[in-house]
This record gives sequence, C-alpha cells and structure tokens, in this order.
Amino acid sequence: MIKADNQLLVIFGASGDLTGRKLLPSLFELDIRDLLPDRLCVLGASRTEYTDEEFREEQRKQMLPSVQKKHMDEKKLDEFLKRVYYVSFNSMESAEYPKLKKKMKDLQHSADLPDKVVYYMATPPSMYEVIPQCLKENRMNRAADKTGFRRIVVEKPFGTSLESAQKLNEHLCSIFKEEEIYRIDHYLGKETVQNILVLRFSNGIFEPLWNRNYIDSIEISAAETLGVEKRGGYYDRAGAMKDMVQNHLMQLMSFVAMEAPSVFEPEPIRDEIVKVFRSVRPYMKNEIDDMVVRGQYEGYRKEENVDPNSQTETYVGMKFFIDNWRWSGVPFFFFTGKKLPAKTSEVVIHFKSTPHTLFVGQCSGGSCNKLVIRIQPNESITLQFGLKQPGAGFKVKQVGMDFRYDSLATIYLPDAYERLLLDAMLGDSTLYSRSDALEASWRFIDPILNHWKEKGVEGLFPYAPGSNGPEETRKLGAEPAIDCGCHF
Ligand code: BG6
Repeated sequence: MIKADNQLLVIFGASGDLTGRKLLPSLFELDIRDLLPDRLCVLGASRTEYTDEEFREEQRKQMLPSVQKKHMDEKKLDEFLKRVYYVSFNSMESAEYPKLKKKMKDLQHSADLPDKVVYYMATPPSMYEVIPQCLKENRMNRAADKTGFRRIVVEKPFGTSLESAQKLNEHLCSIFKEEEIYRIDHYLGKETVQNILVLRFSNGIFEPLWNRNYIDSIEISAAETLGVEKRGGYYDRAGAMKDMVQNHLMQLMSFVAMEAPSVFEPEPIRDEIVKVFRSVRPYMKNEIDDMVVRGQYEGYRKEENVDPNSQTETYVGMKFFIDNWRWSGVPFFFFTGKKLPAKTSEVVIHFKSTPHTLFVGQCSGGSCNKLVIRIQPNESITLQFGLKQPGAGFKVKQVGMDFRYDSLATIYLPDAYERLLLDAMLGDSTLYSRSDALEASWRFIDPILNHWKEKGVEGLFPYAPGSNGPEETRKLGAEPAIDCGCHF
C-alpha cells in the first residue's frame, strides 16, 4: 500500500461532533494499520478554547469507549493523540487567520513537514463560503511552490438547491482548483459500494445481463430505525430528499447504472457518473405526485429543534427512468426514511421473468431472480433463484447463493471515513463528487423540491414509527424486496 506524503491535516469545526465521532477514530484506525504518513500532524481549529493537551484529553474521552470495545491498545491511542494539536480561533473573521497560519507554520517547522496541507471543513454548511474566502485573503489557499499542495474537503450537504450548489461551486473554484476540491459523500467510502464497481467490471458473467433486456427493475434503499435524534435543527431544513436522495442514493445509483470507464482512474470514472446523472429523465410537473411519495413519521414535529408545523419529509419513495441505451424502460426505485423497521441499505436488481411460466403460482422469473447487494449491515451479495424442492411433484423454492463479507474473517472492513480521508491525503478523488455531477443531480432533484414547496403539507403522508413508511408508496408499484423491511 502506498503511503501518502507527510502532511498537515487542518480540521475546521474540530470541537464538533464529526471530529470525535468519525474523523479522529478513522485516523486512529489508519494509524494502527500503519497507513498514515509517518509524519502526519492533525490540527484541530475551532472557536472553543482548548490547549493542545485539553483538546487531546477531550478527544481521548470520546474515543476511549470504542477503543476499549474493540480491545485496542490504549497506549497506541495516546501515541496517536500526540500527532493531534489545536488552535482556538474565530474562523468567521479573516483577521484571525494569521493565528492559524502561525500555528500551521510552527507545526510544519517542528515536525519537518513539506508544505502539503489538507483542509477539512467539518463545520456547518453556512461556513463553506466564508472559510475558503478567509483562507484566500490570508494567502493560505496556495502552497509556497509546486512541490506542495493545498486541498479542501467539503462535507455534505453541498448546497440546498441547484442554484446554491452552483454558487458554492463557483466560489470554491475561484479559490481552489477543481482537482483540489474534495466533496465528500461518505456512501462512496463504503466497501460494499465500491464493490459494486468490482462486481460489475471484473466479472464477465454480469455484463451481458446488466441491461434492459434482462433487468426488470432496480431498487436502491436506505432504511434507518432512528429518528432525527439530536440533529433536528439541521434535518428540519434538509429532509430525506436533500439528506439522503440527492447525494447518497444518487451516487449509489450511478455506480449501478454507469458504463465501464475506459481506465480505472478518477476522471474517466467521474465522467461516466456524470453521464448517468444527465440521462436521468426529468419529471414533468404533473407526474411528480404519482412518481414521488413523501412521508413524515408521527411524532416528528415534537422532536427537539423541529418546527411544530414542519412540512419536512422523513421518508421518500420514488420511481424514475434513465433514458439511455442500456436502461431505457427499466424503472429505478429509491426508498429511504427514518423510523423504519430495520437499518438496512441495499441494492436489489430484479431480473425479468422467464418467457413463459411453467411453474404457475410459484417462485419463477421476475419475483424469483434477484441480485441483492447488501451495503449494510451484514455486508453481502446474494443471488436468488428457484430450485426444485426435493420430493414429489415440482414445487419450486426460492434459494439464495450468498457471499458474506464476514466470511472473509481476516478481512477488516474499514469505516467509510478511513478510506475517504486516506484518499484525500493521497490525492485520489475517485470517490469524491465532481462539481458537474453534483449539479446534474441537483438538476433532477430541484423540480421535486419546488413542487413540494408549492404544495405545502398536501401530499405529505404520515406514517407510524416502525412501519414500512406511508401506504401511498404502494402506488409506485415496486416489487417487494426481500428482507429489507423498508417498503411494501
Ligand atoms: C448522513 C445523513 O449523511 O447519512 C444522516 O445526514 C443519515 O441523516 C446517515 O442517518 C446515514 O448513513 P449510514 O452510513 O448510517 O447509512
């Protein structure tokens, strides 16, 4: 495994939840696996007053329970935390950046680091414009010379509409080059999501079947049992469409639907992703209500920081088509929601039925042949088909051929953030979104959001927590997925 060059990782918003919950634990896992650059320094930057020591202690407290649960060496955690530093400053004020700059310079000097810096924006989206602007004003957006680099990682949500995403893109691109901007979508960091590409493009057997001739429909779902928990303030402004569909589900769909790139390199792969997004058939205004169902779980309006009259959707079910040579006429379905019966994310490829039904009323054809790619939990790939039940007559039973990741007992399944952080340090943007893809996906989603805004609460269906979402989802006509529990 190639190691990234020695560098400095600056985390804006370091006193927030993401740093302790995802970023530092992922860096620690990478450290344990000896995948970090030998001299990586991590500099947390946010407003809360901490010394380096206090910040380390705070992070230690947060990380310790999971370290103990995984039986990891606590001494190693202390060793890792020695790489972590902190600077307290107000990132909204350009005049405060010299303080950050000085700390960065001091660290680079004392750890003998080259001028290679990754900025990570673990901040609320409202700061995505101001921080890069201040970096520019303080000449911190460029390395001293060509041997160094500056990269910036931007968390989702990237914009709240096509217009705002375009504006943000324009702004960032006026400060950093496109290849220096890493727009994160943590679903792309998931092993099983990446495996879709390997499954499709390293095996000859799937390609002949992977098209409108043999595939009946494709269903992509991400169901969650939890509600909005402590994130009501953010979620109530986002909703399931912006929180899950516009990014995670669209990205998953692109991996399932894209053409093979000419070579397995970031730009050719991202070119194919954009082509898929551009081929998604836009909805006509009068078909949105029939093709897209939104729901809100009962009790949502009483959640902390949620508007008591909220019209935000916590569930989306939708049907759409991709107008291209491969997928013409094949319905794609998305299902996602909070407070559903199970936490599962999966892709189900439903194959067409046999040309003529010989085993009437039993598992055959369409309902029978599925390829289920389970993203989480119990990461697995299952091919389902019908076989004769032993004994008299011809009873057909649906059976599955399984590959489960945990059967590769020695293989460690890294968290999505581990892979994505490592890629940003290595300069590999394959699993990050490019601006044109993001805009193309907003172009598809925007009219739905505008339509909902016009309709207000009309067409927002309630559903009971723990149920499969609103009954109205039935009208989309999706075949029930196996073992998913997230729709009808
Ligand atoms: C996040 C959303 O991006 O993804 C959350 O903001 C959601 O609302 C989460 O819960 C789901 O991610 P995962 O990896 O748990 O499926």
